[in-house]
Amino acid sequence: MNPFPTTVRIVEVGPRDGLQSISSRIPTDAKIKYINLLSEAMLPEIEVTSFVSPKWIPQLSDAMDVSAGIIKHKNIRYTALVPNIAGLTNALESGYDSVAVFIAASETFSQKNTNCSIPDSLERMKIMQPKWAEHFIHVRGYISTVWECPYEGKTHAEKVLPIIDSLFELGVREISLGDTLGKTHPGNVKSLLDAILKRWPVNQFALHFHDTYNLALKNVEVGLEYGISTFDSSAGGVGGCPYAPGSAGNIRTENILDLCNKFNIQTGINKNNLIKAASHIQQYID
Ligand code: HMG
Ligand code: MG
Repeated sequence: MNPFPTTVRIVEVGPRDGLQSISSRIPTDAKIKYINLLSEAMLPEIEVTSFVSPKWIPQLSDAMDVSAGIIKHKNIRYTALVPNIAGLTNALESGYDSVAVFIAASETFSQKNTNCSIPDSLERMKIMQPKWAEHFIHVRGYISTVWECPYEGKTHAEKVLPIIDSLFELGVREISLGDTLGKTHPGNVKSLLDAILKRWPVNQFALHFHDTYNLALKNVEVGLEYGISTFDSSAGGVGGCPYAPGSAGNIRTENILDLCNKFNIQTGINKNNLIKAASHIQQYID
């Protein structure tokens, strides 16, 4: 078992994961203000938006305008989610030096979310790789449905491990393990981490829990026990994935901060400013 971390790094995914499934259109200016408020809360990394097909995720079709409008702080990493070379090209044109790519551990979710198989997702990444290498881009990789798939049920570790291998071979620096449905529980989290951390160092992984069944905080605690020190979350817990029916928003960033305070773990985040950001965006969400 790795030691309990003394600092935790939050990747704030509210502006991307939080907003992507909100059906009523949120004005671009409101998103820019939200991200600026999150920057004032000193989140170490903010996932600003995604450069995906506007037909698939209409809410984030203003990705370029949002990216151009925000005020960037020098100590914060700003990341954009990209599904393919077109998205990566747009992200680079919008000034990003950090992107996140995504793939699923279950075939049906891969098809529903990206209209392609798992091997084809890897092919898309292979096409992107020379470009991200040439521009020295920091690349984070999400693996969705690592514990549960909304269509196929339980995911076995044997499906996840080869994908991790492939992502690291492509130069992905950090892998975020996604409980897309928010259904996993501490026992499942432990067994996957046991399998993964036998093979790779703990500091190469982050955990990404949606909080559909109120299990996310317990799962974060398990992650801490295993020495994981990067967690994805969303201020106010907004959001979900439109291609994972029934899934709720990400775990609230505030809840992780409270847990870290309890264990005397530093995060560097200003909670009052975080709450201001969450209340600002909440007025645009039904
Ligand atoms: P496709 O329809 O198979 O793509 O979609 P295509 O290559 O056949 O292109 C079709 C049209 O889309 C063309 O336009 C392309 O130009 C356009 P048309 O000729 O019809 O006018 N297009 C694009 N436009 C803008 N930006 C692009 C782009 N690519 C193609 N990048 C595609 C394939 C991957 C694009 C689509 O399936 C897609 O955008 N999927 C993204 C869905 C998504 O964003 N899901 C949520 C994010 S993942 C998530 O939430 C999980 C996570 O949080 C972790 C977890 O919780 O587990 C990360
Ligand atoms: Mg997610």
